[in-house]
Amino acid sequence: MVCLGNICRSPLAEGILAHKCKSLPVEVDSAGTAAYHVGNAPDPRSQYIASINNIEIQNQKARALESNDLEEFDAIYVMDKSNYKNTLKLAVSNEQRSKVHLILNMSDPGSNKDVPDPYYGGDDGFKLVFDLLNEACEIIKNQLESELNV
Ligand code: 4NP
Repeated sequence: MVCLGNICRSPLAEGILAHKCKSLPVEVDSAGTAAYHVGNAPDPRSQYIASINNIEIQNQKARALESNDLEEFDAIYVMDKSNYKNTLKLAVSNEQRSKVHLILNMSDPGSNKDVPDPYYGGDDGFKLVFDLLNEACEIIKNQLESELNV
């Protein structure tokens, strides 16, 4: 799960997908395309919307996306088109490029919609982000279950 700062959207995406995939043999992680907030916990507004949905993200720590992530992970879900462009800059092969997806294309195929950046807005923005990510992560979980035959 990739966003810009790895403190608002992608920590929520990581927490939501990890929660849905508790019983599956998958590793879920998140990172930011920028390093401004490296080492920081998720934004308190993300922590709050997660916690009222029984998801704990307070122990996450922001990190910057690395080129090795494109090798190590099977799928990279990015929150918006700017993240997409910056993530692709790290890819060194078509195989790596093909792993990168706009996350909202999972729930709304071909729409190329962005998960809006909630950082400078109010609490409503975080609720919207949660709902969008919850819908997309449900589809990712279903896809993983069918790929893993469980
Ligand atoms: P995120 O949100 O990419 O969802 O973690 C942001 C966090 C911090 C900043 C921008 C977006 N910032 O400019 O510091």
